[in-house]
Amino acid sequence: MTEAKRLAAEKALEYVADGMIVGVGTGSTVTYFIDGLARFRDRIAGAVSSSEQSTQRLRAHGIEVLDLNATGPLPLYVDGADECDPHKRLIKGGGAALTREKIIAEASERFVCIIDPSKRVDVLGRFPLPVEVIPMARSLVAREILRLTGGQPVWRDGVVTDNGNWILDVHHLAITDPVGMERELNQIPGVVSVGLFARRPADVVIVGGEPPQVL
Ligand code: 5RP
Repeated sequence: MTEAKRLAAEKALEYVADGMIVGVGTGSTVTYFIDGLARFRDRIAGAVSSSEQSTQRLRAHGIEVLDLNATGPLPLYVDGADECDPHKRLIKGGGAALTREKIIAEASERFVCIIDPSKRVDVLGRFPLPVEVIPMARSLVAREILRLTGGQPVWRDGVVTDNGNWILDVHHLAITDPVGMERELNQIPGVVSVGLFARRPADVVIVGGEPPQVL
C-alpha cells in the first residue's frame, strides 16, 4: 500500500497554490505529501502542522511552520485517515494526533484526505476509534464509553499525545450514526477529542492508485 499512499499524496499536491499556508496532517501518507511539498518550498507562505513529528519533517525540508493563532483560517488541509466512509466521514487518530488534526480541519476551507484503498469502508468502526482523554479521567471515560456505545475501550498504554494526554482505542463499534456518536462522546467530561471526523468530514478524498481516484 505504500505506493498507493505515495500516489495519493502526489495528487494532493495539485491543490497547493502559490502563496498558500498549507495545513499538514500526520502519518505515513502525509510523510509523502510533506516530501513532495518541499518542491513548493519557495512558492508557499508556510505550513501549519498537526504534530511534532510533521513539524520536524517540514522544518527539515526548510518549510516554515506557523502558529495557527497567527494565520487565521487556512485555504487547504491535507491529511490521511484510518477509515473513510462513502460520505467522506473519517476515523482518524491512529497516530495519536487527532486533536490537533481536528483543530486544523475545522480551521480549513478545504480538507483533502489522502488514503490507500484499504481505508475505504461502508460503515466506520472496524478500525478501533481513538479518543484522547485527560489522564485522570481515563477510567471514567472508559466506563462511560462502554455504557453509551457497548464498544470496548482499550488504553493505548505508553503513548502520550503531543498535548500530554492519553488515548483510548474503542473496539467493536459499528458506527451507523457518526455525527451522533461524535457529539455524544465529546460530552463526556475528560474527553479532549474523538477521532470521528463526521461533523466536519473531508471535502475531497483521494484514493491512491494508477490513476488516483478523486471522490
Ligand atoms: C494520525 C492519523 C493518520 O492520518 C492516520 O492514522 C493514517 O495514517 P497513515 O497515513 O500512516 O496510514 O490520523 O493521527
